[in-house]
Amino acid sequence: MSERRPVAPVRTERGDVYVYDDAGEVAREAADAFVGIVAGALADRAVARVALAGGSTPKAMYRLLASPAFRDRVDWARVEIFFGDERCVPPDHADSNYRMAREALLDHVPLGADRVHRIAGERPPAEAAAQYQQKLVRLGDPPRLDLVLLGMGPDGHTASLFPGTPVLTETRALAAAVYVEKMASWRVTLTAPVLSAAAHVMITTVGAEKAAALATALAGAPGSVPIQLVRAVDQRWLVDRAAAEKWRAQI
Ligand code: 6PG
Repeated sequence: MSERRPVAPVRTERGDVYVYDDAGEVAREAADAFVGIVAGALADRAVARVALAGGSTPKAMYRLLASPAFRDRVDWARVEIFFGDERCVPPDHADSNYRMAREALLDHVPLGADRVHRIAGERPPAEAAAQYQQKLVRLGDPPRLDLVLLGMGPDGHTASLFPGTPVLTETRALAAAVYVEKMASWRVTLTAPVLSAAAHVMITTVGAEKAAALATALAGAPGSVPIQLVRAVDQRWLVDRAAAEKWRAQI
């Protein structure tokens, strides 16, 4: 075990912010936090429900969770997996968030297939959203996920809550289809009320291209970027120095 230098969080109105040296450290600390949050949830209930993030940043965390150092620290038989969003492509497509999570993590841990609830990206978007809504309804009102993992784009989007899209004002639907003009593609996403109802939200973001969005997300006026819509009771940001630079210059 390598020696760890604990990082004290900066407490903000938008959650606790942990700044690490680099992306590798973010991944390690995120994997560690994942283990702790899942164990905490399992102390209270039979199953821990986790929504995974897509994109590229979480891949290193997922690989770590699948590695011998971490794998046995999670009681995978009692974990149920959901997704924060999905690109509307088949599950074996290179862009599929499910595929990324499966290859990096899900294939390598003892999780039954019936415990993995993917968004059917291969179906027409509205149908896939309606189908996912049915899965979420049984998690309570509002649906309660124990842990939601999220990333953030350089425009401040999270999951598939992109700037200027109608899904940002969604208050009733739990999952929604959204056409993302800049990607010229459909996505299906959990809505902000569902993300905010999670017991714990962990956002990981790294790299200088995220610095402006992070500064706005943490210190900008409310409503400046979509990720500000996510307001969970326990919300933490794990970021690297490059991503934190502009925000730190402001505080
Ligand atoms: C997706 C996402 C999205 C992602 C951010 C950050 O499907 O793309 O879930 O919200 O988390 O775009 O992506 P990166 O980690 O690749 O920067």
